[in-house]
Amino acid sequence: MKRIAIFTSGGDAPGMNACIRAVVRGAMYHKVEVFGIRRGYSGMIEGDIHPMTSRDVSNIIQRGGTILKSARSRRFTTPEGRQQAYENLKALGIEGLVAIGGNGTFTGADIFFNEFKIPTVGAPGTIDNDLYGTDFTIGYDTAVNTALDAIDKIRDTADSHDRIFFIEVMGRDSGYIAIQSGIGGGAEFVVVPENASEPVSAVIKTLKQGFVKKKSSSIVVVAEGEKEGRATEIAEKIKKTIDVEVDIRVTTLGHVQRGGAPTAQDRILASRLGLGALEGLLRGQKNVMVGIINNRLTYTPFIECITKDKPISDDLLRMVHILS
Ligand code: F6P
Repeated sequence: MKRIAIFTSGGDAPGMNACIRAVVRGAMYHKVEVFGIRRGYSGMIEGDIHPMTSRDVSNIIQRGGTILKSARSRRFTTPEGRQQAYENLKALGIEGLVAIGGNGTFTGADIFFNEFKIPTVGAPGTIDNDLYGTDFTIGYDTAVNTALDAIDKIRDTADSHDRIFFIEVMGRDSGYIAIQSGIGGGAEFVVVPENASEPVSAVIKTLKQGFVKKKSSSIVVVAEGEKEGRATEIAEKIKKTIDVEVDIRVTTLGHVQRGGAPTAQDRILASRLGLGALEGLLRGQKNVMVGIINNRLTYTPFIECITKDKPISDDLLRMVHILS
């Protein structure tokens, strides 16, 4: 393989730049030409594809976002869009792809590989940490630390005013950010979609136990993907149901969790996964996602990564309950 291309797709995540850097520098080391595709699958369809060298990735390891930009492309979901993308790659003699992204990115990569057989290796880049086939995804650690910083600050106000705060964190379908930031921030309750129990009565029960223990303030972390509703709706239901007077506020952290300089852990993870993706591709891996499981590099078929669940350990949910 002498010429490859790299792109980032879906929601940006801190550490994506470190991953791009590892792929480009790794390609230089192995004497492989590398092209950068801008704005993910949209740029692939529009032919927004440019050669990259070592200098293009200087001074980016510490930057959040993605220098290649990102997008969620509707056109790539159509056969015509994918055909156009293939023609563009073929015209440039691209023999392999490194895709950095999450669930949607690998769903597209799997379809594209089955149609056109261009070997593709994915690197997991999403703050949600919801991909099977890796213990951690690029950007997750930074997002958890950002959420934690916010929780610590909100706790000051919760304590000063004897209030109950509901803090909504990101996670389209998963509660990973919620559980980790909840444990790290000493939350009284964490509401996650993975927990089957009905949250409203469970939160009320915990809050009441807190009153008995003379707690005057509480933090409830809610994952945005919770099936019962967003944090505002859950807080509203609790206000209506609880039979004691409570002063409740809701804070939604939103996209602040996607930005900022990546943590050391994310920079190192992204560098390992980027080089692992590139070297896997050069060794003949295709239609797989590189991951790190128990500190070892692994390659898992895209289809497993996008269809299998990565459940949150019951131990973590139990821990929140015991420590609250
Ligand atoms: O997948 C990452 C993520 O930040 C999710 O946590 C969130 O639900 C979604 O992306 C938001 O997407 P967008 O930035 O397109 O609104």
